[in-house]
Amino acid sequence: MTGAAKSAARSKSEAKAKIVRAPAFAYRRTAATAPLTLFCEKTNLQALAERHGTPLYVYSSGAIRDRLHAYERAFRLVPHTLCYSVKANSTLEILRQVAGQKAGFDVVSGGELERVLRVKPRSATSIVFSGVGKNVQEMELALKSGILLFNIESASELRALATTARRLKKKASIAIRVNPDVSAVTHPYISTGLHQHKFGVPIPEAQMLYAEAAKESNLKVSGVSVHIGSQITDVGSFKDALERVAELVRELRRAGHDIRYVDAGGGLGIPYQSTGEPFAKQVAAYAKAVLEPLRGLDIHLLLEPGRSIVGPAGVLLTRILYRKTNNSKRFLIVDAAMNDLLRPSLYGAHHEIVPVKHFGARSSGQTLSGDTEVTDVVGPICETGDFLARDRELPVMQEGDLLAILDTGAYGSVLGSNYNTRGRPAEMLVEGARSRIIRRRESVRDQMRLEV
Ligand code: LLP
Repeated sequence: MTGAAKSAARSKSEAKAKIVRAPAFAYRRTAATAPLTLFCEKTNLQALAERHGTPLYVYSSGAIRDRLHAYERAFRLVPHTLCYSVKANSTLEILRQVAGQKAGFDVVSGGELERVLRVKPRSATSIVFSGVGKNVQEMELALKSGILLFNIESASELRALATTARRLKKKASIAIRVNPDVSAVTHPYISTGLHQHKFGVPIPEAQMLYAEAAKESNLKVSGVSVHIGSQITDVGSFKDALERVAELVRELRRAGHDIRYVDAGGGLGIPYQSTGEPFAKQVAAYAKAVLEPLRGLDIHLLLEPGRSIVGPAGVLLTRILYRKTNNSKRFLIVDAAMNDLLRPSLYGAHHEIVPVKHFGARSSGQTLSGDTEVTDVVGPICETGDFLARDRELPVMQEGDLLAILDTGAYGSVLGSNYNTRGRPAEMLVEGARSRIIRRRESVRDQMRLEV
């Protein structure tokens, strides 16, 4: 082998080893002797952070597109609409990216509905409205815009919608969100499908609600919906839930209801602790679990994925302010905090953290070589609960170095707050070698604007 061929072979195998979150986030060398540097698509994240400051959310446009396509492929054989769950990431440009791939939306508030309509004024016919506490103003906005479906979660809500629709002389298409009493393996705060949770209506009660709805001339019974929770990686739970839904669809049709839609909700989990299997394979297994129970029913399927579309498409960049040791306990104090990324504090969630620049001489497999240490990664907020990682083994890093917190595209920026009068981070979208700010960094002035 020539020298050039050898080095090409080496760089090919290195490239394979250095993918952090395939395929959007990977390490590259900017020169043969330069340290490994984290890239998003073809954009150098070190350079981006130097230029725009930290903390900084960075999203890969390609990753969002690829994940939407994977869903489309997995469900291509059945009539379906992908209704991206806006709550996962509602930044306008992210919604534009999703709309650009022809997806619809799942909203849970008038605010989310306004965001979607701002981005795509004529998208109402592919919007579903979920949530246990829709108020009358929100119902009015949704009725006037002509959304596809209201997912109803209680008898009182059904009556409020009927009254509002009558007043506006509109007809509301409805599905009852049933609570299938199926347990899903996930964090208790984000599991929703058991009868002790506030969500949905038990199946026997749902049947009575359908009968009541059918008598209302301003309501149109159109579907059955279900959502059993979020970050579910065992697809068997989806199958259990959809089996109950399929049974209900048959019963409702026997009772004369025109059930066109089944809304299977969202909830497909992502591998936070490893790169896991390819997404296409994961979503294919999910599609099988959802579709098998519905076979032969001739329905239009609605899906409400959020996390699995945008989660792995985003990282949060943060800079190490200080190193600190209390007795033998090590801390990296970084400039991102629980107000920027709440998931570790709220759910004890694990997010992989990697250096943006890595000086290790070699790399093998998914692990970067070099000295490591066990440390907490904490923010500047005055709370013991303000941590991004605890007892984490990381390469030894210095003050001023940058870290990337992975898989933060979903439930990252949206759960942000101004606690400690910290401005919310800027957000950027990467498309190949191009990048642009899609949300400016919030200033103290922005924060005080509404106060008197
Ligand atoms: N549809 C409904 C009715 C939902 O309640 C949710 C999420 C989704 C769809 C989207 O689920 P996904 O595909 O994203 O799992 N803040 C938590 C997650 C809360 C999820 C709430 N509902 C977290 O950071 O893990």
